Amino acid sequence: MLISVIGAGYVGLVTAACLAHLDNDVRVVDIDAARVERLRAGDVPIREPGLDELIHEGLASGRLTFHSTQDATHGSSLVIVAVGTLDRAGEWTVDLVQKAVTGLANDAAAPRHLVIRSTLMPGTAVRLAGLVRDIDPRMRVCFNPEFTREANAVRDFLEPDRVVVGAGDDAAALVAELHQLYEPMGKPIMDTDLTSAETIKLASNVFLAAKISFANELARLCAATGADVHAVVDGMGLDARIGRAFLSPGPGFGGSCFPSQVRALPDLAAEYGVVTPLIAAVAPSNHEQAIWIVDRLEQVLGRSLAGARVGLLGLTFKAGTDDLRESPALRLAEVLVGRGAQVTAFDPVATQSGVDQLARAGISIRPAAAAPDVAVDADAIVVGTEWPEFGRLDWAAMAPTMRGRVIADARRIVDRTAANDAGLTVVTLGVEHAPGARTTPEPVRVAVPVGSPAAV
Ligand code: UDX
Repeated sequence: MLISVIGAGYVGLVTAACLAHLDNDVRVVDIDAARVERLRAGDVPIREPGLDELIHEGLASGRLTFHSTQDATHGSSLVIVAVGTLDRAGEWTVDLVQKAVTGLANDAAAPRHLVIRSTLMPGTAVRLAGLVRDIDPRMRVCFNPEFTREANAVRDFLEPDRVVVGAGDDAAALVAELHQLYEPMGKPIMDTDLTSAETIKLASNVFLAAKISFANELARLCAATGADVHAVVDGMGLDARIGRAFLSPGPGFGGSCFPSQVRALPDLAAEYGVVTPLIAAVAPSNHEQAIWIVDRLEQVLGRSLAGARVGLLGLTFKAGTDDLRESPALRLAEVLVGRGAQVTAFDPVATQSGVDQLARAGISIRPAAAAPDVAVDADAIVVGTEWPEFGRLDWAAMAPTMRGRVIADARRIVDRTAANDAGLTVVTLGVEHAPGARTTPEPVRVAVPVGSPAAV
C-alpha cells in the first residue's frame, strides 16, 4: 500500500520504517528540511535499536522516502499523522496535530483518509474528525495509537500485544485499509470507537505509571520494615492477575509520555467534573520518590548532604536511550544539589547534554569523562539509570578513590557482592543493606520463560 506519514520523530520514524519493512511504500513528510536531508542521507537523528537498519533497508529498496512538503502525500491511500503532542513546558497539546489534519483537509489532492497516531486526550479525535469534515465532507479519521517504548520501539511495533483501531461509523473503508496494513503482523486488531481508542492508550500508560508508583511506595515501606521489595514484587508478579512487568521500583518514572499523561488525565477528568483521586495521586507520588531516596542517603550517611561530594551514575530517563525528558536521574541531581551536595555525573550517552539541561534550569553539576571518575573523593555514589555497564564496574579500583563507603542504588543494577568485597555498603532502595538493616536472603529467582511479559 502507498501511505504517507507526517512527522519524522520517535513515533513517525519507527512507524514509517516498520511499515516499509512490511512491504508498503512509505513517504515521510517533515517540516524540518535539515532533518529530511539527514534522513535522505541515512543519518538517523534518534537512537533506537534496529531503526537504522530498517531505514537503510527502506532507502535501499526505495520503499521509504523523505520529503519536506505536503504534496508528497498526494496519491497515498492514507496518511498517518505522527506529530509531537508536547509543548515547551512538556505538557500535552493538540496544536500540532490539529494544524496537520486541517492542513491535509485543506489540500484537496491529499488523502481523504487520515490516521492519527499521536497521543490524544479522549474526545479530541471526535472533535478533529468533525473539524476536517467541515472542510471536506469526504474526510475520514481513525485513531490508531502506538504502544512503543523508547529503546524497544521497533520490536514493540513489529510484535505488539495488540493493534487498536478507533473509528466512527462512517470510516469502514479506512478501517479496512488499516486491517490490511496490520494483518501481516498476525497480532490481535481491536476495533472500537474513537474515544474508547484514545482512552485505551492514555489509560494503559497511566496504569503502567501507577504500577511503577505502587512499587516505589512499596520500596519505601520495605525500607522501613526490613522486607525486601524485590522479593515482594517478584512474589506479587507471579500472580498472573498482577504480572511482574512495570513493577520494578526505582527513582521514579520519566520520559516524554508517563509524566505528562499522569498529569493530563486527572486534569481532563476535572474538566468533566469527575474526581479521580487514585489517578491524581500518581504524579505527586512519583515526584516524592527522588526526595525519599536522598532522605535515605542522608540517613545511611548519618549526616546532611550539605557540602558532600556525590557521584551520580546515569542521567537519561532509562537505559538504552539518550532521552533526558523528565528524567528521574536529573530529578535526583536537582534534589542532591538542593541539599547542598556537589554532584559529579556520568552517563554513557548523555553526560554533557544532561549537565547542560540542568544548567539551563539553574542547577550546576560537573561532568565526568567515565564512570570511575564520579567516585574520586566522593562521599557517596547514587545510581539513577540502569545502564548495564554500571553492573560491571570495578569497585575494587574505585573504592580506594572514594572518601565515603556508600552506594545508593536506585536501580538495583550494582554488583552488590563486588561492592561489598571492596568494602562498600550498597543501599539497594527498598532492599536495605545499610548498616543495621535486617539482611534478607537473595530474592527467590523464578525461571521466567523468555519472552513472557514478566521477563521484560
Ligand atoms: C512508555 C510506555 O511504556 C509505552 O507503551 C508508551 O507508548 C510510551 O510511554 P517509555 O516512556 O518510552 O514508554 O518507556 P518505559 O519503558 O515505559 O519507561 C518509562 C519510565 O518508567 C522510565 O523512566 C523507566 O525507567 C520507568 N520504569 C519502567 C520503572 O521505574 N519501573 C519499571 O518497572 C518500568
